[in-house]
Formats: sequence, structure tokens, C-alpha cells
Amino acid sequence: MKTSIALIGFMGTGKTAAGKLLAEKTGKRFIETDGIIEEKAGKSIPDIFREDGEIGFRQLEIEAVREISNERNAVIACGGGVVLNKINIDRLKEGCIIVCLTASPQVIIKRTSGDKDERPLLAVPDRVRQVKELMKFREPYYERSADITIDTSELNVESVVDRILSEVEGNESNH
Ligand code: S3P
Repeated sequence: MKTSIALIGFMGTGKTAAGKLLAEKTGKRFIETDGIIEEKAGKSIPDIFREDGEIGFRQLEIEAVREISNERNAVIACGGGVVLNKINIDRLKEGCIIVCLTASPQVIIKRTSGDKDERPLLAVPDRVRQVKELMKFREPYYERSADITIDTSELNVESVVDRILSEVEGNESNH
């Protein structure tokens, strides 16, 4: 029986906000892969990207997922690029139901505006184009990783969490 829920999805789909509320409502422990990475590296995500590059960051991400993927009764909010390495998803699937949060490019662009200091991948001159290209490239990765997919474009955090809870219940009774 899977007792944890992993939230995946593009930057700005609301994984952190929904994850925190979901953990609160279910009594599960909230964990963020980015938080574990920063703790282990002793530096911020932008500093990791600056000093070790995206490849260095992905390596730390793989280690973080390996460490936490067998946590029971947890809500794990994953960084947006966790799907890029299949090993991460394979590990998460062992103990987690995987919920993918999505949103339209317009909504993502709006929600992530002003985030360039926290999100190195969006610190580029043409952010709109970058978001659209990354989303398009990653779409199949999110699709094939998810047990459940929820479009959050028009939902507030409470509604997202309600949807996750009812979909997870449905998913469990189908197994
Ligand atoms: C990334 C998403 C970020 C963070 C890093 C890379 C990505 O997490 O892990 O900047 O590749 O999509 P959020 O999805 O929580 O912003």
C-alpha cells in the first residue's frame, strides 16, 4: 500500500503550496526535494546552478530522491525537472502515488513572473519563450510519470487539494 504522495509538474503549477496544505490535511510529513538538495549542498539552488551547472544540480536531485523516496506517510513536492531522470520516477513509484499538477503556459508565465532569482532556468532574456519551450519538451515526461493529473489553471489551492484527495481515493480503490 502506497502511503506517500509525490507532486510533480512544471514550475509554477503550485506543488509547494498544495503540498503543504495537503500534508496539513492528511497529517503526512511535507518534504521538498529542493529543500533536501539545499540542505545537503549547503547552498541555494541558484548557487548550485551557478557553481555546479544544471548537471551538478541533477546529480544532487537524484541523490535527494533516492534518500526520500522510501519515506512513508509523506507528501513530497518535487522540483519541476525531477521527471527528466527516469530513475527518480522509478524510485518514487515504489512508495508514492504520483500526482502531476499542470497549468496553461499563460498561467505559468504569470505565476512565475518575478521568480528569476529563485528559478535559474527562468533567468533568461526571453522568459515567455523559455517557459513555452521547456513545457513542450517536458510534456511527455510528465504524462508518462503521472498516476493522476490535475489542471490547476483555474483552481485555488484549497480546490487543488480537494481534487488531489478525491482522485487519490479513487486511484486507491481501483487497485
Ligand atoms: C526546476 C524547478 C525548480 C528547481 C530548479 C529546477 C526545473 O523547482 O528544482 O530550479 O528544472 O523545472 P520548482 O518546480 O519547485 O520551481
